[in-house]
Amino acid sequence: MTLHSITDTPQWRALVTHAEDLKGVHLRELFAADPDRAERFTLRLGSLTIDLSKQRITAETVRLLIELAEAAGLRARTEAMFCGERINSTEDRAVLHTALRANSTDRFIVAGEDVVPEVHAVLDKMADFSGKVRSGVWTGSTGQRVRTVVNIGIGGSDLGPLMAYRALTPFVHPELEVRFVSNVDPAHLVDATADLEPAETLFIVASKTFTTAETLNNARNARRWLVEGLGGDPAAVAKHFVALSTNAAEVAAFGIDTANMFEFWDWVGGRYSFDAAIGLSLMIAVGADNFGQMLDGFRTVDRHFLTTDLEKNVPVLVGLIGVWYRNFLDLPTHAVLPYCQHLDRFPAYLQQLDMESNGKSVRLDGSPVDYDTGPIVWGEPGTNGQHAFFQLIHQGTTVIPSDFIGFLHSAYDLPPQHELLMANMFAQAEALAFGKTAEEVRAAGVAEELVAHRTFAGNRPSTVILADALTPSVLGQLVALYEHRVFTQGTIWGVNSFDQWGVELGKALASQIAEELTTATPNPGRHDSSTNALIQRFLDR
Ligand code: F6P
Repeated sequence: MTLHSITDTPQWRALVTHAEDLKGVHLRELFAADPDRAERFTLRLGSLTIDLSKQRITAETVRLLIELAEAAGLRARTEAMFCGERINSTEDRAVLHTALRANSTDRFIVAGEDVVPEVHAVLDKMADFSGKVRSGVWTGSTGQRVRTVVNIGIGGSDLGPLMAYRALTPFVHPELEVRFVSNVDPAHLVDATADLEPAETLFIVASKTFTTAETLNNARNARRWLVEGLGGDPAAVAKHFVALSTNAAEVAAFGIDTANMFEFWDWVGGRYSFDAAIGLSLMIAVGADNFGQMLDGFRTVDRHFLTTDLEKNVPVLVGLIGVWYRNFLDLPTHAVLPYCQHLDRFPAYLQQLDMESNGKSVRLDGSPVDYDTGPIVWGEPGTNGQHAFFQLIHQGTTVIPSDFIGFLHSAYDLPPQHELLMANMFAQAEALAFGKTAEEVRAAGVAEELVAHRTFAGNRPSTVILADALTPSVLGQLVALYEHRVFTQGTIWGVNSFDQWGVELGKALASQIAEELTTATPNPGRHDSSTNALIQRFLDR
């Protein structure tokens, strides 16, 4: 049975009409017409304040978007996710990352079984192991304590822990460092280990499937580096390698004792997994208490998302505003601009979360969509971005909805730099929204031939997210906010946000070509003339 397209609904058509009405309306007019606009469109969720007033929306826009969400069955699909239904239909799996941050008294059922006890058993095992590494009770094979943890993983097995490790830098154990190796480019592993002592190094091999070529190749070469560096005894591996995976058989086949494996489950997507075992490197760095506070933050937002009316539901509202821009104002990208150096990898993390989830062209029943789906997500921390790409955000021909994320307090006391940082963030959001008219430019005495160049159209929308400080709890809240935003949008678009078949073709072709390159036996019958020429050029090197 083919599902009706969401574009056929009266709710969608009403938004098309509404967008026509609102296209010519400037944020300057919306603010002038409503002195309470900032207050009206500022929401609070846990420790987060979310100012949506600089979005190109009115109360009517929100009302119509919520009707669309209702027409798309958002409430029912949310409940289905939390109830452990197999909503990842193309992989026939439940989607229960929310169970990873459950209280021990909560119940999350998958196939008739409450998974919370298992989740807590793994968290306890992680806490025990982390405590031993942090205190020096866990030593390497020569009895020396671990100084450096190297997480080997890619995609969701890298970006989440890496992003969170950097975000929580002030909470990291002063005598421990975590490094992350993801790329199959040998430079990544070689550079990351160049100055390390094998005797003081712990490798964490993180891979949900334990079949990912990049990770297994890096892990094999890391093992060789370790064993050679410790005098050639393979028994050393047991004290220097642990695994994070759903695949015990492959972990054992690799040579890691499954006693040193931290398990997770097929109902956790890779890009939703750093609050489970994939976060082991993070837990070692910041300790189990801080990790637990991060899970509390996630849970605060989960509960809000599950139980709050759509009208006041923050992840739902920010998700719907994203749909508004993507589908009704035709804006193809979304920028995430943390004014916080510690969030420097947050945009990269969100790229996988959002683009791997909603970069889809068919709906749940396999029929093609007749509307745009996931936006291109990108960003960099401010103020750096201001001196690179902000010119285009201010005066380019593509309007880019942006999220500004900032904190009232810095982790470091270095006056007046935090004030300067935040002043820049507030100023950018203001300038984007209100711009500068030609009259204002002239009134400032600018020469007539420069007036057009120095005029800013404004009406460029943004959300400002503020919190007191970047604590573990706030980080959990932020990530959960974006997770549920992505879910909301995927539900409106009727796509499966939990598979990633699009990465398979490239992987399969790479493994064929890898065989041709490593054995120096090109197989021209397999490829086009361009690819054959590139392969030959490589083999002729
Ligand atoms: O690139 C596809 C992907 O499957 C991601 O979804 C995943 O996070 C990444 O590869 C790594 O997979 P694994 O954790 O199984 O090694």
